[in-house]
Amino acid sequence: MRITLIVVLGLGLILSSFRQGTSVESKAQIKTFAYTANATVRTDTTKMDPETGLIVDENLYMVKAQCTGCHSTKLISANHFTRDGWKQKIRWMQANHNLWELGETEKQVLDYLEKNYAPVQVVSRRAPLKDIKWYDLKLK
Ligand code: HEC
Repeated sequence: MRITLIVVLGLGLILSSFRQGTSVESKAQIKTFAYTANATVRTDTTKMDPETGLIVDENLYMVKAQCTGCHSTKLISANHFTRDGWKQKIRWMQANHNLWELGETEKQVLDYLEKNYAPVQVVSRRAPLKDIKWYDLKLK
């Protein structure tokens, strides 16, 4: 009786430590979902590339080729810019950090970034009320 109790408790402990590991991960994911709600709607069927942690799409291979040589891809996935904003970042890296000319591949890179890492709007809040008709509260 006592042994079973100990075994059950032990298993419980082991399992809960595993759980904690995954729950941190899923919390981070939930955050990502909320923040990207207005960009490409990221559902749990959105495929993430295991190697880079970036969203899978037909132009990902070009981003992998051009953007993963110098720094973590987290610098990419943590940012959200317009197409023009991404272009400016590229120009900035070209001017200051020895990023090469992307030539014809720049279009593919920008297509990818614009589509998958666009600016985000948190959509969980309703729009402010308009045309409110205020009235005096009369006490009877
Ligand atoms: C030749 C090296 C190099 C390559 C290739 C490169 N970057 Fe960078 N990038 C840098 C450096 C250096 C920084 C500054 C890192 C830091 O601040 O720690 C940087 C920073 C960034 C940042 C953060 C900018 C900020 O405002 O903080 C983003 C976003 C970024 N890179 C995106 C990209 C993208 C997209 C590509 C592919 C087109 C790319 N990088 C390719 C060198 C490079």
